[in-house]
Amino acid sequence: MPSIKLIEDITNAFISGDIHSVASILRKESIKSKQNRKVVVSKRLENLIKKIPSANSFSAANLARPEESDYKKTISLNNPGLVSEFHSQVLPEEVVLDIDAKNIVATLFREWEDRDRLSDFGLQPANKILLYGPPGTGKTKLAYAIANKLNFPLILVRLDELVSSYLGKTGQNIREIFDIARQKNVVLFLDEIDTVAKHRADEKELGELKRIVTVLLQNIDLFPNNSLIIGATNHDEILDKAIWRRFPLKIRLEVPSPESRELLFNLFLEKIEKQVDFGFLVKITDGLSGSEIFDLTQQATKNYVISGRSYLSTTDMMIAYFHLMLGNRLYKKISKQDLYAMCQKLKDHGFKLKDIEEMTKIPYTTLRDNLK
Ligand SMILES: Nc1ncnc2c1ncn2[C@@H]1O[C@H](COP(=O)(O)OP(=O)(O)OP(=O)(O)O)[C@@H](O)[C@H]1O
Ligand SMILES: [Mg+2]
Repeated sequence: MPSIKLIEDITNAFISGDIHSVASILRKESIKSKQNRKVVVSKRLENLIKKIPSANSFSAANLARPEESDYKKTISLNNPGLVSEFHSQVLPEEVVLDIDAKNIVATLFREWEDRDRLSDFGLQPANKILLYGPPGTGKTKLAYAIANKLNFPLILVRLDELVSSYLGKTGQNIREIFDIARQKNVVLFLDEIDTVAKHRADEKELGELKRIVTVLLQNIDLFPNNSLIIGATNHDEILDKAIWRRFPLKIRLEVPSPESRELLFNLFLEKIEKQVDFGFLVKITDGLSGSEIFDLTQQATKNYVISGRSYLSTTDMMIAYFHLMLGNRLYKKISKQDLYAMCQKLKDHGFKLKDIEEMTKIPYTTLRDNLK
């Protein structure tokens, strides 16, 4: 029987329209089954994945991620579709970072700007970077922004697809991908690097996966100075120590601070006519990731557009908050006090207790006793 966590993950990915993630979760499960010698289960999962429209091409990913929409061409490896090369449109200003990460990234950019002067001294700009931290904190977006800033094409490698679809040929594929980085300046982006780079000591790993890590390590060692390799993971604890060591520059992305949350709200609502109490929004969104804040602003914008009103209000944001929270997308705990404060704001904006009950699922009587 599948675990409840698995069912939740798949359902949530489905609700958010991220078909690519649905395929990715199923693939991980299929690999796991293969490792545990449950061949039939693994095959059945693979067959399911094949039925998902475009799961094996980048068109699904393009829909979910607008910044990939100027996808230029697919590298003709023997397995086209698993790797893509394009120019990223994401600007560094569009990634909100805390002060430590910001400083590291600024230094990185300066080193690449001054690469000729550095080279006169026999020095090279940093080019092996590991981005790590909780889900939805902007790791993928930062990798895109780095490629854009340096004006290098981004080569996106979907390691999970590479491994699960073509186990047996992965070593050869990895070598071919790294060859491209030797031929021209690129940013080679290994997203979700933990997919292959788990502890090699893990007893359950198949020999094949161990060999893949070895090939990966060899190729990272030989990585040329003219290009950058960026790895990203939200599972740094299971990352093979040898992989960890191979990326001298590590950048940890955190769940946003109050200041960063305010910047994120401003960024995501930049083009929208609005009258919102940012202080209040920042307060009630403690613990949410950048990605959850993005979802919140998207939902609120939809509500505002549909309502036909002339500006987006704090109320739109709160309605979106409850909408997503009840759909189990924003699951973070919020204090009772803040919850009632939100309800109070809704009431002050003319919502009836019955409407608030409907929206929040807080019983009418509780609302009546706690709101002014
Ligand atoms: N720090 C941030 N700055 C700007 N936007 C962010 C940030 N963090 C998250 N977002 C928003 O959330 C979306 C998802 O972020 P992204 O895919 O980069 O997260 P991630 O850290 O790579 O997540 P995962 O670990 O799940 O791969 C972005 O497209 C962006 O809209
Ligand atoms: Mg990511």
